[in-house]
Amino acid sequence: MKADVAIIGAGPAGLLLGHLLRAEGLIVKIVERASADHVVGRIRAGVLEHTTTDLLARLGLDGRLKTEGLLHSGFVLADGEQIVRIDLADLTGHHVTVYGQTEMTCDLMEAAPARGLEIFYEAENVVLADIESETPCVRFTKDGRDHYLEARFIVGCDGFHGPSRQAIPANQGGIYEKVYPFGWLGILADVPPCHDELIYASHERGFALASMRSATRSRYYIQVASDETLDDWSDGRLWDELAVRLGPEVGGRITRGVALEKSIAPLRSFVFEPMRHGSLFLAGDSAHIVPPTGAKGLNLAASDVAYLSEALSLFFKRGDQEGIIAYSGRALARVWKAERFSWQLTHLLHRFPGQTGFDRKMQVAELRYIAGSRNAQASIAENYVGLLL
Ligand code: APR
Ligand code: PHB
Repeated sequence: MKADVAIIGAGPAGLLLGHLLRAEGLIVKIVERASADHVVGRIRAGVLEHTTTDLLARLGLDGRLKTEGLLHSGFVLADGEQIVRIDLADLTGHHVTVYGQTEMTCDLMEAAPARGLEIFYEAENVVLADIESETPCVRFTKDGRDHYLEARFIVGCDGFHGPSRQAIPANQGGIYEKVYPFGWLGILADVPPCHDELIYASHERGFALASMRSATRSRYYIQVASDETLDDWSDGRLWDELAVRLGPEVGGRITRGVALEKSIAPLRSFVFEPMRHGSLFLAGDSAHIVPPTGAKGLNLAASDVAYLSEALSLFFKRGDQEGIIAYSGRALARVWKAERFSWQLTHLLHRFPGQTGFDRKMQVAELRYIAGSRNAQASIAENYVGLLL
């Protein structure tokens, strides 16, 4: 088979890029290891920056987003005693949209056939070859048959554990990484949210987040130690801890329910540079990971593919290499600012092992400073809604 661009991975990055390139008339094929059901079944984050929703609108794929997405003009920071609302709309003129990544992935997957975006699900033994040539290829097996997909470019949208980043020779790239000594235990339940906006709580017992998917479906998280497992956390214990960390006023408004999904995710910051090697580009989690504190993971995947689709379109339409040469530097500039914001918010809101009384005082003092400073709130707000592309 031949294509202009072969994409590995049908998560948000791969699907969004596929649609953007198809909209430019390019021949695009996606090779995905998992089944369509598995891809859609993954429960992930839920806050979209306007740069992300603008892309979906540009593609005409924001129908359900407009009817089911929740437009939020602010969110709350809590420190166990005081709360401060970050008024995103007033401070930046922008909102964020609460809409599950699952829903966005589903919308993109469903629209693929009608738009000529071919996706090979359940592909096995995916191997990249000749990535330094102008005829790279992706080999894979499906239904017991070997497939050979030749393209001018390959884009690795295969996430943190995918093969694309690994295909780059070790001495041709650099890794920057920070592993946090805790994870997030998340619960999804069909209960009404405890508040109409997201609450990020920095309690001395640890971090908690009250989020949502709709007026009837809530998503909560608490920070847990790296060695804790789901066996340590019954639903009851989790609801009790959430009530403590979110504070007495909000905690009293939590509606408990049975977990539809419960999982623990580790927190890490990770960046691989550069995001290109020969005819291979990286986009999304294949190149970078952020702790979920700043809700940047999905939105960075979107901004990567916004830059890359523009660059590839320029190349195929005018033979202009400028965009593809600039892609890595351009994408990384935004990635590093999102890494910084996510790192800053993680340090502000989480309890670190060995934290002293002084350390906690520093966290509370910073939260109190933010509560009293419009400038400090504006800085948080402009990072949260998403820095300009
Ligand atoms: N061959 C083909 N596909 C693969 C392979 C492989 N060897 N390995 C992984 N994949 C697929 C995965 O099955 C997944 O569908 O690549 C896709 C990667 O998707 P994501 O991990 O969701 O990454 P990305 O599209 O960059 O989206 C980033 O997703 O994980 C969240 O928190 C993350 O919100 C962020 C967003
Ligand atoms: C979520 O709703 O899953 C969510 C929201 C905000 C975050 C992280 C996760 O920062």
